[in-house]
Amino acid sequence: MRSISNYHHAYTFIMFIFFALIVFQAFSISAKTLSATESLTISSNKTITSSGEIFELGFFNLPSTSSRWYLGIWYKKISRRTYVWVANRDNPLSSPHGTLRIFDNNLAIFDQSDTPVWSTNLTKGHVRSAELLDNGNFVLRDLNSNDPADGFLWQSFDFPTDTLLPEMKLGWDNRTGLNRFLRSWKAPDDPSSGDFSTKLKTNGFPEFYVCNKELIMYRSGPWNGIRFGSDVPETKPTDYLVYNFTASNEEVTYSYLVTKTNIYSRILLSSTGLFERLTWLETAKTWDQLWYSPKDQCDNYKQCGSYGYCDSSTSPSCNCIKGFEPRNEQVPGLRDDSDGCVRKTRLSCNGGDGFVRLKKMKLPDTKATNVDRRIGLKECEERCLKDCNCTAFASSDIRNGGSGCVVWTGEILDVRNHANGGQDLYVRLAAADLD
Ligand SMILES: *[C@@H]1O[C@H](CO)[C@@H](O)[C@H](O)[C@H]1NC(C)=O
Ligand SMILES: *[C@@H]1O[C@H](CO)[C@@H](O)[C@H](O)[C@H]1NC(C)=O
Ligand SMILES: *[C@@H]1O[C@H](CO)[C@@H](O)[C@H](O)[C@H]1NC(C)=O
Ligand SMILES: *[C@@H]1O[C@H](CO)[C@@H](O)[C@H](O)[C@H]1NC(C)=O
Ligand SMILES: *[C@@H]1O[C@H](CO)[C@@H](O)[C@H](O)[C@H]1NC(C)=O
Repeated sequence: MRSISNYHHAYTFIMFIFFALIVFQAFSISAKTLSATESLTISSNKTITSSGEIFELGFFNLPSTSSRWYLGIWYKKISRRTYVWVANRDNPLSSPHGTLRIFDNNLAIFDQSDTPVWSTNLTKGHVRSAELLDNGNFVLRDLNSNDPADGFLWQSFDFPTDTLLPEMKLGWDNRTGLNRFLRSWKAPDDPSSGDFSTKLKTNGFPEFYVCNKELIMYRSGPWNGIRFGSDVPETKPTDYLVYNFTASNEEVTYSYLVTKTNIYSRILLSSTGLFERLTWLETAKTWDQLWYSPKDQCDNYKQCGSYGYCDSSTSPSCNCIKGFEPRNEQVPGLRDDSDGCVRKTRLSCNGGDGFVRLKKMKLPDTKATNVDRRIGLKECEERCLKDCNCTAFASSDIRNGGSGCVVWTGEILDVRNHANGGQDLYVRLAAADLD
């Protein structure tokens, strides 16, 4: 009996050591930070994990281009591998030999022959360590800063790929001089820079533009106090999302927060140019599309030319705003690739002009606008009438029945209506064209 018991103890002890080794190994493979003396190599399969195990950073390749290796960030909590950031998207490693390490006060990726293929390119500061935060931000900490929430020498959030995560900001920051924007992947299995980009136009009345190379494909419509864009989107619950648009001297940015735990939501500019919001559905193990654009032909930029508006329920979908007629009179109605419309009667400019009120509209392109958030609609109308170049006006904020004032000078472009949503747009007409 006694000897059996001793054997049993010995066996238990060996098993304990065995499991302890496995557990130790598992922990050693995934670190929380990368110190100045450590490195991450492709062959070690080592990764960096955020403290709450939400995100993971490491080298990866993709099935169709398995000879190219990238450094990226993905969700550790989500079973379907989803990349949210790629460092060396346009400089992949061409063989499974690569190292990430802190070198010369920078974070850099080195290839087989120890040549850097990617670097944070910092010229000042002293890097203490690299760390992946629970919001997905990969940061470099300064030796001389002890502020855990800030004082980053560098952060991946300043160099987005195709994804906007909660707490990440798009737009302009005067401190860094950066205007952060999204650029699509080339293809679903190719993270290199694609043709589509989405930028926040930060002057005047800010809005998002989605471009294919240099060509504008779509614009969101300006921030209306609640959201960018005019359609009332999500029919699915989004009460866990808080949107934040900030326009100050220091920044013009858009960001959002997720206010409930265990919800993963992101904005993506897809490789086909779709601007979409996705939320992870754990039960179905899929990304649920809450909203996307462009939705129909009326979302195509300048679909109906100047002074036209697009209505997807009419055929053709292009129409002239009241008081305007097709520029090309040979064409009955307006073709969808129309040249737009022209005014029937010239504006008088000194009294006599008035406004037609168009309901449920996406506000026109905001390139030539002036915003005054302190005045209301009545003063806005007066301001527009006083300026001979003013062609339209609207509330700049639709909350509480509307407030603020935005005026357009010059041509009215890229207007559409919505079955739900949109807002009132007042377009200036000569007295003869008013009822
Ligand atoms: C890394 O992962 C690959 C594929 O899963 C495996 O073949 C390889 O042995 C791993 N290397 C180490 C050092 O664990
Ligand atoms: C660092 O500088 C090199 C050379 O100017 C450039 O090609 C590379 O894109 C820069 N890296 C980053 C992350 O900006
Ligand atoms: C919104 O963004 C601004 C500027 O970045 C920030 O100061 C503010 O705290 C944010 N508000 C919320 C509710 O996140
Ligand atoms: C931006 O920052 C610079 C200093 O870095 C400052 O001189 C300038 O006034 C700032 N711009 C605005 C609009 O605040
Ligand atoms: C109106 O537009 C014309 C031509 O674009 C310009 O020369 C003029 O300065 C503008 N007037 C006002 C008051 O903005």
